[in-house]
Amino acid sequence: MSLDPQCLSGRNAIVVGASSGINLGVAHRLGSLGARLAIVSRSEDRIAAAADTLRADGVDVTHHAGDVREPAALQAIMEEVANAKGPIDIVLSGAAGNFFVPAAKMSPNAFKTIVDIDLIGTFNVLSAAYPHLRRPGAVLVNITAPQAQRAMPMQAHACAAKAGIDMLTRCLALEWGAEGIRVNAVSPGPIADTEGLARLATDADLAERIRGALALPRFGQRIDIGNAVAWLCSEAASFVTGTTIDCDGGMRLGNLYAPE
Ligand code: COA
Ligand code: NAP
Repeated sequence: MSLDPQCLSGRNAIVVGASSGINLGVAHRLGSLGARLAIVSRSEDRIAAAADTLRADGVDVTHHAGDVREPAALQAIMEEVANAKGPIDIVLSGAAGNFFVPAAKMSPNAFKTIVDIDLIGTFNVLSAAYPHLRRPGAVLVNITAPQAQRAMPMQAHACAAKAGIDMLTRCLALEWGAEGIRVNAVSPGPIADTEGLARLATDADLAERIRGALALPRFGQRIDIGNAVAWLCSEAASFVTGTTIDCDGGMRLGNLYAPE
């Protein structure tokens, strides 16, 4: 189904973790459908550069530096955006960190760091946005991963954090639905030319094995995730809440008979 090219016209959207990769692609897609954007990540230089690329494509965007592990910083950004632009219509929470490490060699701080960024960071983003959300009508989308549903070696930290995001998505959907706020998640599979995939597919052979094990044996594109998020944000999804859209080429299915 194609979306009306102006379906998000004038909607006030915040995309967190948008200096690169999938979330920058999502920001681009939301902007192309008419949303007015605020984008956030830790690095002032990286988020400013991302805003420049969006502006070059005609997107109305402001940029803000903040770490999702710092609730006060997020509260200040949400307040600044809402004061300048009005109630927030769309929040995309996608900041994350990852690295490959066996559990036996993972330090407690390594595990904590990923849970802090991915899971607690998502709660920090959504709770900072909550007072400023448009009611009814706001849409919140979290970026999760197949790790939430499928155990993977060297990924105990990311699996635990992303599984927590899926349950948080359902809990907030339940609590906030009566106010007209929808909360959903999108789970990308391996997406080409991203930091996340580079950190998992550490060499060409492993990349090929990951690709070959998918039910749809190709790497995804950023636009695949942009389209899934845009659909959730549109009126077409007005009765959809508390769910995860698996936009993963079937990665979560765990193909036992993947070719060697
Ligand atoms: N293997 C094992 N442990 C690692 C590691 C690795 N490759 N990289 C970091 N760690 C450990 C550190 O040793 C540290 O633990 P310690 O204090 O016990 O030594 C802990 O993780 C925190 O590392 P630090 O570098 O201080 O964290 P940070 O907050 O500066 O950076 C990361 C966060 C580590 C996730 C960093 O890689 C990052 O910023 N990633 C963002 C980009 C990204 O991961 N993109 C993919 C998204 S899916
Ligand atoms: P990426 O380019 O590294 O994107 C991560 C983003 O998060 C960057 O903008 C980074 O910017 C920001 N970030 C990291 N830590 C932060 C923090 N503490 N506070 C604020 N911002 C922070 O990686 P990606 O591969 O595109 O991944 C994007 C999302 O998709 C993640 O949620 C990831 O788990 C998910 N995902 C990716 C894949 C894949 O194949 N790539 C598959 C499944 C799920 P700064 O460095 O400027 O802070």
